[in-house]
This record gives sequence, structure tokens and C-alpha cells, in this order.
Amino acid sequence: MTIEATAPGKIILFGEHAVVYGQPALAVPLSAVKAKASIQRGSPGSGLRISAVNLNANYTLQTQSAEALVVMANLVLAYLNSPEPDAILTIDSTIPLASGLGSGAAVSAALGRALAAFLNKPLDDAALSELVYQVEKLHHGTPSGIDNTVVCYNQPVYFIKDKVLEPFEPRVPLQLVIGDTGIASPTRKTVKAVREAWERDRSTYDAYFQAIGEVVNQSRSAIEDGDLLALGALMVKNQELLEQIGVSCSKLETLIDAAQRSGALGAKLSGGGGGGNMIALTMPDTVDAVAAALLDAGAVNILKTVVT
Ligand code: PMV
Repeated sequence: MTIEATAPGKIILFGEHAVVYGQPALAVPLSAVKAKASIQRGSPGSGLRISAVNLNANYTLQTQSAEALVVMANLVLAYLNSPEPDAILTIDSTIPLASGLGSGAAVSAALGRALAAFLNKPLDDAALSELVYQVEKLHHGTPSGIDNTVVCYNQPVYFIKDKVLEPFEPRVPLQLVIGDTGIASPTRKTVKAVREAWERDRSTYDAYFQAIGEVVNQSRSAIEDGDLLALGALMVKNQELLEQIGVSCSKLETLIDAAQRSGALGAKLSGGGGGGNMIALTMPDTVDAVAAALLDAGAVNILKTVVT
């Protein structure tokens, strides 16, 4: 018998970086890409063996490393008060790595869900999210917790670190095109750069974060009112602020420009920045033109998604 569990990718619509400093953010699951974990019984005495297909790597729980998958498996076993099972756990993911789509959180979430189900002790979303957050902390330094939250709850959320977790519903579907710069940019790096800049000049950076927080609240209203024109303009505003805090890059800006010139209502980077992905809001009849323009401008991959 094989047990399978999945977790989606995610995109941050508004509020990345400022969310680390207590401002709200909006994020949605991205089911076009996912992490999948499957687990089956192993031979007696084999212990738990983890195979990461994308990384072409195999681990046991005795692996002396801070490898995220091993850390997550150990956390789940400790939380469930369970001895190490004899099992083979395989992780596979279609979520691009280090590109702002939540691949790390999704892989941990899928692993946690599959392992807990195998042990007959399923984890609820809140418990799973907390365990994934522990792993994120090892890898990000100071994560806000938004990635693990969206990926584990698998629904659009309005999020304030340690305070608010509210689902939200768009009044009209949001048609998004996601363009990948092809530049790998670990979140940890841009989060650290922003922290250093904030430490040098707190008042300027606090003002940027606050301005981003206001954009997030206005965006939530625009989403709930179905005001796509206002929402597009707010994406442009959020992107300007992200440029000011120093997490954009020229390839992101080339793609954002291309999207806007081909009819997108607005566009911005999504996630940690410095590379990774950008998102563009389109109408249903402009989605293909925007996708084509992004590819022309050098996007290495395109995803289309509708947020409902
Ligand atoms: O790069 P991603 O998709 O993991 O998003 C990071 C979002 C940040 O706000 C930059 C960091 C965080 O922990 O919230």
C-alpha cells in the first residue's frame, strides 16, 4: 500500500518583505505546480529512507545534516511521539526551486502529511503549518510564516505574522500570468539584505513597510470588490515600493514592463525578489498576449493561473 500527499506552490500577491516586519500580506496557493510525497512500508529494520527525486539525493534519519527533509521528518516523529518507522518516502516536486513559489514549504508539507498519514496519526493544517515553519526558520533565518501558512491551509489568506490568518475570496476571478526570470534567488539572501538596510536606516525602511501595508489593505478591498483596474494600479504601486527597498532586479523589471505594454492591468515581482518570478494581472482575453510578451522578453517559464 502506498500513501500519497501533495501540497501546492504559492504566490504572494502583495506585501512580501514588509510582512516580515509585521505588515499584512496576501498570498494564494498555486495548484498548477505541486510537491508530492509517497510513502510505503520498507523492509523490517530498514528505518525511514527518504528519496528526493528532484535533488537526486537519498537520506536516512541518521544523515548528519540540516537537510530540510530530514529535519521535517524528525520534527513530525517527535510531534507525534512516534518511533522511526520502516518505510520508503519519495518526494517529487514540479515547483521550481528558489524562485519565490514556495517550493521549500510545499515539499516539507507534503512530506509531513504523508508521514503522519502512514503512521495513522494525520496532522491538522495548523499543526502541520507550525512544523513546516520550524523548518523554514532553519532555511530563511527570519521567515514571516506566510509560505507555510498558505501551502498548508491551501487557501487564499490575508496574513499578519503571529496575529491574523483570514481567508479571503475574490469577487471576480483573478487571471494571473507568472513569469520566471530564470535567475535563482534564495529568499534568505534578499531577506538578509533588507534586514541590513533596515538596521542602517530604520525610519526610512519602516515608512516603506508601512506604505506596503497600506497597499495590501487597499488590495484586499479591491479583490473583495472585484475592482480589477484598482488592483492593477496597486500592483504597480507595490512594485515601486519593492524597487525602493532594493529587492527588484533588471530582468524582473524587463518582464514587468513587457507585461504592462502587452495589456496587463498591473505587474510586480512576487516573493523574495532579486530574480525568481513576477506576476501580471490580466483580463481573460489578454492572458495569451501577456504570456507571449513575457516569453519574448526572456521569461524562461510561464504559468497561468486563475485565483477564485
Ligand atoms: O521567496 P518566497 O516566495 O519564499 O517569499 C518570501 C517572502 C518574504 O516576505 C520575502 C519572506 C517571508 O518570510 O515572508
